Amino acid sequence: MDAALPMTSIDPRDRVALRDWATASRAAFLQPAPTEEALDERLAEVADHRLTAVRDVVGGEERVVATLRTFDAEVAVPGAEPVVVDAVSTATVLPTHRRRGLLSRMLTADLERARDGGLALAALIAAEAPIYGRFGFGTATRSTSLVVDHTHVRFRPDAPSAPGSLEFVPAGRTEDLARVHDRARRARPGGFPRDAAWWAAAGRRGEGRWLGTRGHVVLHRDEAGVPDGYVAYDLADTSTGRVAGGTATVADLSATTPAAYRALWEFVTSIDLVRSTRAADRPVDELLPHLLVDPRAVQTGPVDDFLWLRVLDVVGALSARRYLGAGTLVLEVVDPLGLAGATVRLHVAPGERGDGEGWLSPEVSTTGAAPDVVLGVGELASLLLGGTSAMALHRAGRLRCSPADAHALQRLFATPEAPWCPTWF
Ligand SMILES: CC(C)(COP(=O)(O)OP(=O)(O)OC[C@H]1O[C@@H](n2cnc3c(N)ncnc32)[C@H](O)[C@@H]1OP(=O)(O)O)[C@@H](O)C(=O)NCCC(=O)NCCS
Repeated sequence: MDAALPMTSIDPRDRVALRDWATASRAAFLQPAPTEEALDERLAEVADHRLTAVRDVVGGEERVVATLRTFDAEVAVPGAEPVVVDAVSTATVLPTHRRRGLLSRMLTADLERARDGGLALAALIAAEAPIYGRFGFGTATRSTSLVVDHTHVRFRPDAPSAPGSLEFVPAGRTEDLARVHDRARRARPGGFPRDAAWWAAAGRRGEGRWLGTRGHVVLHRDEAGVPDGYVAYDLADTSTGRVAGGTATVADLSATTPAAYRALWEFVTSIDLVRSTRAADRPVDELLPHLLVDPRAVQTGPVDDFLWLRVLDVVGALSARRYLGAGTLVLEVVDPLGLAGATVRLHVAPGERGDGEGWLSPEVSTTGAAPDVVLGVGELASLLLGGTSAMALHRAGRLRCSPADAHALQRLFATPEAPWCPTWF
């Protein structure tokens, strides 16, 4: 570890310091130094974030060589209110200073701070999958991509449908979109908030942004005129000769009812002169194929990890969600970094159904009892939102327990919908 180089905090409102910090972080992601416009956007985005830098003297000048950004944000969990987590981002070390322990120092210091501050979880999106397992993170949501062939799209007669209306939204008018997204992200495990700065940046369409120069946003309203879905897409002319063959790329599609969801997909897949739609960062249990007479009109894949979680407080993390199954298990959670390891009793009694949806509240407490299941802190993070099969982890040798207890874990942690996070942060 390179203990000689000091870690310092950066004031996110200090433009000069932020420029040095952003120049270093962008270089590690192979990008040029920020323009003044990009810096303005960054200032707005990170105004209340925690920025860390490591500096070194390079060519006689002190420069930022490593960066980390963290902030508090809510992640939706099964059956309960979203949980505030330590969101980790912009973890970079310049190639000249890599593999000297700088990331390890910055990240472990921040995780300790978050745990001491009472947060039960940390979250991030990994640039490369091998980096974060050693820090106790595990994959909590997965996403996939779709290609829809419009010539084969026909909705089933029983596909949900309701009266409503569609309208184009002018660039920059994002209030209705933000409201729809906020309702949708709370309703599904893995959902992540988008603040005003996120929407302001999304509203500025153009090259290299959320929506390109041919971007459009269409809002759906229900019969009463209340917004209940939107789709944001870009168009490209991919015709050959006189044969029309435009392609739509969906940047974002969010709906709070299946009928609005259907209306938006029906809209995009029936635009004249457009023959196919692509969409990335979609849920692995996307509804669209189930709505179609020919589900092969939707080609799905690949599936990749998206949101990673790190448990900082085992009792807090297990208590934050609700469960559909009932059961009692003693879990020994092993944490090689020594931040959160604990042996706990998770008890979910049948019949204590809190609300009409069948979610059950758990009782969770530390215990000296012998464990039924021994698992790593990263494996617990993977199970927490219901996105990873306990049976698969058991078969992979990553849970130490009987097959029956792995099955019991599977029943306890399963969720009706796959967890999904479509928001980069
Ligand atoms: C990824 C990155 C931040 C790692 O920083 P670093 O200071 O070199 O990391 P550390 O020296 O603290 O490494 C800690 C351990 O993780 C391992 N590791 C680090 N980066 C890794 C990678 N990309 N793949 C696999 N292992 C990696 C190291 O080998 C080391 O292992 P060890 O403890 O067994 O020796 C840095 O290489 C970087 O900025 N890469 C480009 C930008 C990026 O991908 N950032 C991540 C954003 S999510």
